[in-house]
Amino acid sequence: MARQKTIYSCQQCGLQSPKWMGRCPDCQQWNTLVEEQPVAVSDHSRALPQPGKPEKLTEVSSREEDRLSCGMAELNRTLGGGVVPGSLILVGGDPGIGKSTLLLQAFAKLAESGTALYVPAEESTRQVKLRADRLGINTNHLYLLAETSLEQIKQRIKELNPAFLVIDSIQTIFSSGLDSAPGSVSQVRECTGQLMVQAKGDGLPTFLVGHVTKDGAIAGPRVLEHMVDTVLYFEGDPGHPYRILRAVKNRFGSTNEIGVFQMQEQGLREVSNPSELFLAERPEKSAGSAVVASLEGSRPLLVELQALVSSSSFGTPQRTAIGIDHKRIALLIAILEKKIELSLAGQDIFLNVAGGVRLDEPAIDLAAIAALASSHLNRVINPQLVLFGEIGLTGEVRAISQPELRVKEAARLGFTQCILPNGNLKNIEVPDTIKPVGIKHASEALDIIFE
Ligand code: TYD
Ligand code: MG
Repeated sequence: MARQKTIYSCQQCGLQSPKWMGRCPDCQQWNTLVEEQPVAVSDHSRALPQPGKPEKLTEVSSREEDRLSCGMAELNRTLGGGVVPGSLILVGGDPGIGKSTLLLQAFAKLAESGTALYVPAEESTRQVKLRADRLGINTNHLYLLAETSLEQIKQRIKELNPAFLVIDSIQTIFSSGLDSAPGSVSQVRECTGQLMVQAKGDGLPTFLVGHVTKDGAIAGPRVLEHMVDTVLYFEGDPGHPYRILRAVKNRFGSTNEIGVFQMQEQGLREVSNPSELFLAERPEKSAGSAVVASLEGSRPLLVELQALVSSSSFGTPQRTAIGIDHKRIALLIAILEKKIELSLAGQDIFLNVAGGVRLDEPAIDLAAIAALASSHLNRVINPQLVLFGEIGLTGEVRAISQPELRVKEAARLGFTQCILPNGNLKNIEVPDTIKPVGIKHASEALDIIFE
């Protein structure tokens, strides 16, 4: 009898190897290789129901896909305008961030236009019912199926013929054709593959919830991201109520879109005016607070940066940044010392982005420097002033993308003055209510602010 061969597959990147290794040679992760039985996948479980035939490019219909509205404007916006029939959408995020809540709320709305099936593979139907009660959901066409076997789920789908499907989560379901445990690479890949065939074949829009590993990748792993049409990340700081839904990949729309939500007692509330929310608790007459016009995807977002500079009682002063890259702050402090001649040696420095958002673009440099200088000099920045611009190593201020969008958003919220890179002044049209001031060097900004 032929000996049964086993393979070892990496649970991070999906690499397969005939022998075990302590470290995956592909993704360099330790202890990720797990023994699995080789998969004998039957051909017809993968093939699309209708065989394809060559078509002329010019004759292929280019009609915009009919999108179905989820009834939640922020989710529709992130998806690029709504759910495309037959699309496979992966929703990832840390545990407890609100993925199940988001999808339950969206499905309650979707169920108004057709039968929706929610498969809570992690929880019992009772648990989901309790949550639904809390969210005030009471829709007749929303079905729950607590099942983890893929074959059973597919069978029930045939009987029920739903118009929308959620699998919460892909890591807990398994196909009986494979020996490996649920959540392993081969199970996740096989189940996603079969769900994809079903989604494309029946035009059934399918949402998959995916867990996220410590370092932020969707567990089970990159292969999953390649297979689906759209990848959405739901992120936020658990200590803050704000949540951002970000499209990381979208075959049917732009990845520049974000949706903003607020987690409340009665579930997620959509935030159509995030800037107003982020600035709501701003102390207007305090030193160390500056407002930056940042851009999240294609959406301008006004956020408050707060700095605290105080003399250190220890030999090595602390430098702490929340919501901004540490290295960026170290660099800005060095620029302040060397190019603007503001001595911060021996000072503890704390910098925080209010509201728990994370800002990663260099356009926040100018506002960060202004907040630091304001706290150090103990002088208040005009509360009607907004800043943005990237700062180079010699202290020069560099142009950044989409200045017009940012200035307009600031004007809309009643700001009257805007300090921006001189290079951005060309060809922008701004409302009369706001005065743009272009600068070339970071020290000019401080001269204007603290004149
Ligand atoms: P959940 O959707 O279960 O997260 P995930 O599926 O991503 O793991 O959300 C759980 C958190 O959301 C939990 O900490 C409680 C909080 N929550 C509210 O604050 N209000 C609500 O109405 C609901 C349903 C949850
Ligand atoms: Mg959940």
